[in-house]
Amino acid sequence: MSTPSPLTRDGFIQAQDAIAQAAEEKAAQRQHAKKKLTARERLSLFFDDGVWHEVGQFIGGSVRAGRIGSAVAAGYGRVQGRMVAAYAQDFSVLGGTLGKVEGDKIVDLIDRGIRMRIPIVGIQDSGGARIQEGVVALAQYGRIFKKTCEASGLVPQISIILGPCAGGAVYQPALTDFIVMTRENSHMFVTGPDVVAATTGEKVTLDELGGAAIHNFQSGVAHHMADTEEEAIDYVRSLLDYLPSSCEVAPPKYEYIANPEDEAAARGVAELVPTSVRQPYDVRDVVRSLVDHGEYVEIQDLFAPNVTIGFACVDGQSVGIVANQPMNDAGTLDVDASEKAARFVRFCDAFGLPIVTFVDVPGYRPGTEQEQAGIIRRGAKVIVAYANATVPMVTVILRKAYGGAYIVMGSKSIGADLAFAWPDAQIAVMGAEGAASIMYRRELAGARENGTFEETKARLVAQYEEETVNPEVSVSSGQLDGIIAPADTRQTIIDSLHLLASKDQRAPHVKRHDNGPL
Ligand code: HXC
Repeated sequence: MSTPSPLTRDGFIQAQDAIAQAAEEKAAQRQHAKKKLTARERLSLFFDDGVWHEVGQFIGGSVRAGRIGSAVAAGYGRVQGRMVAAYAQDFSVLGGTLGKVEGDKIVDLIDRGIRMRIPIVGIQDSGGARIQEGVVALAQYGRIFKKTCEASGLVPQISIILGPCAGGAVYQPALTDFIVMTRENSHMFVTGPDVVAATTGEKVTLDELGGAAIHNFQSGVAHHMADTEEEAIDYVRSLLDYLPSSCEVAPPKYEYIANPEDEAAARGVAELVPTSVRQPYDVRDVVRSLVDHGEYVEIQDLFAPNVTIGFACVDGQSVGIVANQPMNDAGTLDVDASEKAARFVRFCDAFGLPIVTFVDVPGYRPGTEQEQAGIIRRGAKVIVAYANATVPMVTVILRKAYGGAYIVMGSKSIGADLAFAWPDAQIAVMGAEGAASIMYRRELAGARENGTFEETKARLVAQYEEETVNPEVSVSSGQLDGIIAPADTRQTIIDSLHLLASKDQRAPHVKRHDNGPL
């Protein structure tokens, strides 16, 4: 295609469009061959109706010289009607690498997000620091890190990894609130396979080193694994539905019209929870039966599945949900579950989202593996998160709550505003079997000698359960605000949130705290 002369006014605009179009065609050729979308196609998919406004398209380039600017596209548009700033790295230009111009553009976009108090979304697809630009490129990462930290806790920040995210570049998404990866094409690693082989002799594939499965199931770096780019982008749009544009405005409240399906689901919630404390069940079914339209957007569903976290609405109010998951490892708290829950609680607190906690926990997971992994240091993060949170917090104990795990899972003593339990909940320092064997050690030793061990133990366990393992002690000592019928749980949560609506009166223009990795 011949490029129109940029020397006239019309010619300039035509030349500009022609260069942009040619660049997009080249990008499409390269990206589509790898089953990937171009940077601008991704942004069009992200914003409502494909409408967005690009800023600085020719920064670093020249219309007269026929060059588009840089390896990153940046702009703004609406997501479900609300303004969002976003950038997408363009792998078709120098491998999407980051040099001076790209760094300036990304820092500028984050700055706009901060000034406008709107969420910032970054789509990563890059070979990392542009080697040719040396330390200048490295320094740009430093500036981006600093800007991302400045925005943390002020406006929501979400990263979508749709290609390589290599080297120290990984720390930019790591500083944002949520990371979404695609199953096949996205990789995050600090040192690539070649460097690993050269330095340690270890032979490892890209997927083994930093594929979506590794970061979703194992490392906990990512928060969602999507099958396709379209699904990844759609998930981020859904997340944004639940979030305020910044910490300075209230989280979304939607108009909710009561409906028979929700009412029936809430009334029947008891049927989802087996009475035997040893029987597993999927607590997400409980969550879905208690929230509006059964819609629960889970986060980090593949990592530390012994606890579930996510967003939902209750009577139209957007809330964060934290719940032990008895289906996995009996819902015990371990190092990963602790960090997962803790960072989520901190996120909700930073953005004024009420936290609803459902408790069914047998305790912290015992054993040398957990002690050596730092359950003391990492388990403590849950305490830091709940104890410092000032948003409305409502807790419901569904079935059992034992020991330290009872206290840290949003108990009243750690900071919940209102806490309730179902009538047959077991609440105690520890389970009856363990407690009886410690409290009645001598009596049990005697019973063993005279051949009455089994019946004596059964009697003592029953006695302990009768006297100690029930919600009444917690109610009479003020640790619970009431014992509620399961069928009333949804209404109790709604009433509690109404009562607490005026609680979180934060000073305007003040960031509560950041949401950096703990
Ligand atoms: C300059 C780079 C580059 C880089 C890729 N390219 N990475 N150019 N600096 N870091 C170029 C390639 O030369 C190529 O140019 C084009 O981008 C596409 O790359 P390919 O290798 O052809 O693509 P692919 O086979 O898909 O492999 C992609 C890749 C690989 C896995 C990302 O390119 C790679 O391993 N790159 C290096 C990744 C890395 O180690 N980065 C860390 C840099 S240091 P042509 O002209 O042929 O199209 C860093 C530190 C940040 O990031 C520190 C922050 C504190």
